[in-house]
Amino acid sequence: MPKINFIKKFPPIEVRKNSNLMKSLLVAGRPVASSCDGDGICSKCRVKVLEGSENLSPMSYFEKERLEMNNIPEDYRLSCQAKVLGDVTVDADYW
Ligand code: FES
Repeated sequence: MPKINFIKKFPPIEVRKNSNLMKSLLVAGRPVASSCDGDGICSKCRVKVLEGSENLSPMSYFEKERLEMNNIPEDYRLSCQAKVLGDVTVDADYW
């Protein structure tokens, strides 16, 4: 099973392949900011992908557009729009 790793305070969590990243984090009790409930609009759920970006589902045009509109660097993903396909290491500014 793919593993989500963190660099600060949280132990790794194992998730099923193709799990939604944001939902996986929330189920495991990790706080994820959101004001659109995962609709891909608010961009608050962004996480920085430190390792394993190739192990997340490809970025859609919609997600890319959202990141660009909000001047979010390319090494971030909207966690509500990404599926976990393999091991990743992520971080959020507020963790
Ligand atoms: S929760 Fe709003 S963009 Fe992901």
